[in-house]
Amino acid sequence: MTILITGATGTVSGAVLRSLAGTEDVRVLVRDAAKAPSGVEVAVGDLDDPATLDQAFKGVDRLWLLTAMGPQAPHAGMNAVWAARRAGVSHVVRMSAIGAAHDAPTRNGRLHALSDVELAASGLGWTVIRPAFFMQNLFGSVNGDTLYGATGEGRLGMIDVRDIGDFAAAVLSDPAPHKGKTYTLTGPSSISLRDAAAELEQVYGMPIAYQPVTPDDAYRSMLAAGLPEWIAAVNREYLTAYAQGWGDYTTSTFTDVMGHPGRSFTDFARDHAAHLRP
Ligand SMILES: NC(=O)c1ccc[n+]([C@@H]2O[C@H](COP(=O)([O-])OP(=O)(O)OC[C@H]3O[C@@H](n4cnc5c(N)ncnc54)[C@H](OP(=O)(O)O)[C@@H]3O)[C@@H](O)[C@H]2O)c1
Repeated sequence: MTILITGATGTVSGAVLRSLAGTEDVRVLVRDAAKAPSGVEVAVGDLDDPATLDQAFKGVDRLWLLTAMGPQAPHAGMNAVWAARRAGVSHVVRMSAIGAAHDAPTRNGRLHALSDVELAASGLGWTVIRPAFFMQNLFGSVNGDTLYGATGEGRLGMIDVRDIGDFAAAVLSDPAPHKGKTYTLTGPSSISLRDAAAELEQVYGMPIAYQPVTPDDAYRSMLAAGLPEWIAAVNREYLTAYAQGWGDYTTSTFTDVMGHPGRSFTDFARDHAAHLRP
């Protein structure tokens, strides 16, 4: 039984790999073998290039399908689903995003909706996971004694990526009960960045203030930092929606499936002092 992990050098799939470690036979799909994580079978392939996928998918039973954010994501996802069909993959667990829908307020959400629908119509076994805003998105947001953010006073049911990893690993290890299900995953509480700054202050025992910036300012900063325009613009779409309360909810899905609550923002802050502590 082989599980193929796409996006293996990235944030979420790295967490999935750590959660699966030692439990299943895992193969990773990478574009550059030199960047592959160690201790797993490596296949080189590019989701943008279907000719590179047949060999990489050979003998795969289950697929973790993550596509990088970008306008090409449905093309990459389509190529993966096609390769999975050809290889006889029995189950695909797809990383989608919170609020994915044809009328979502972000292009990323509308693109994910296309790929979710395509997978559901593929004839393969499938599960779709739609996580909320990642707590790990806040890495790099604390500068000096200030947490900068562009979600205003909007609250978000943000989730620790380690919980996405644990959840995905559980589904990949035993897909049968999760066949045909779409799971919206949030953390245990919905908090604003002002609440987050207060939590950081409490955990690190030093003053940390929240400084809101506008989504437009954040867009300009992302461009200045070298992000592609499409990514910066879509992030601005998310920030605008979140500031209006679009992400202000939690679901019980993680607890219902895993039997325990997800990690709190306090857990996240305590475990990531190296990245967050001023
Ligand atoms: N950030 C959030 O709050 C949030 C919330 C919900 C959902 N999401 C979703 O999460 C996903 C992104 O996850 P992430 O943050 O873990 O991504 P990430 O860290 O940016 O990693 C992207 C991965 O995709 C790989 N990749 C890119 N293009 C590829 C290609 N053509 N062929 C094969 N592999 C390719 C990259 O490999 P290389 O090393 O080769 O570049 C990398 O391993 C997106 O679908 C996004 O919509 C994000």
